[in-house]
Amino acid sequence: MTTRVEPGICQGIVVPHAPRLGRPEIVPDFARGLVDGLIEMGRDVIAAAPDVQIVCSTHYVSTFNWHASVVARHTGRCVAQEAPDMISGEPYDYPGDPELGRALKAELEAIGLPVIENAAEAYSWDYGTWVPVHYMDPAATVPMLNVPIVLAADLEETFKAGAAVHRACAKTGRRAAMVASTSFSHFLVRGPEQWPTQERQDADARFIGLLLDGKIAEAWEWFPDYAPFVVGEMQGKALAWLLGGLIEAGADKWQGKQYGPYGQSSGSGNANVLLKAAA
Ligand SMILES: [Fe+2]
Repeated sequence: MTTRVEPGICQGIVVPHAPRLGRPEIVPDFARGLVDGLIEMGRDVIAAAPDVQIVCSTHYVSTFNWHASVVARHTGRCVAQEAPDMISGEPYDYPGDPELGRALKAELEAIGLPVIENAAEAYSWDYGTWVPVHYMDPAATVPMLNVPIVLAADLEETFKAGAAVHRACAKTGRRAAMVASTSFSHFLVRGPEQWPTQERQDADARFIGLLLDGKIAEAWEWFPDYAPFVVGEMQGKALAWLLGGLIEAGADKWQGKQYGPYGQSSGSGNANVLLKAAA
């Protein structure tokens, strides 16, 4: 039975997206646990019947402007720009949520951020969006909104843009899953099986522990030191965006669960984390 909860951000999620995780037949043994965890977490996310999934991927990059997706359907093929041998044109077809997209645009404008509508029906998803979404929602049952990383936005602005996501959902009556598609540590090296340094693994363990314990405000307080220490992916902006949404929705109401192990990929540290609003 599904428990009805207030509109806004109802699930906060961190997912990995390395290209070699993208298709079951190419996943190396050392990364199998991460993918199994992602699939299991997806079942729980979908079972909670969110109205929409809003995904910020570190590989969807905008230089200046925030984007508000207003397409009725996201249809296309995903090619991993840097690994076309691994993800070479995977088809996808998910419903969009134009009403929520327009509401998000209004919220971002209201706090003075530059934002454009993304109404391009031929827009192609980056692999950081496609990899986790196709595992979590393989039947494409939940409408999608995708959000870029903005290079010109600092962590504080990115946090505020995440908070705006909660307000847009609350005002439109959406119960949303908010997804940060990103690694934690992200000092990349050649060699798929390479781990982050022990110091960075330890920092990731502390940060993930704060998320799992629902200490979201403490995680954000530490973030300006944590993110550069672990060389966060895109400076940790997808995580900052997620923390903004979670804190706007109520910093103290989250309970976390990790699915599968903390795992490596080319020097990065990754994990599947799901935060649910406590009943
Ligand atoms: Fe990445």
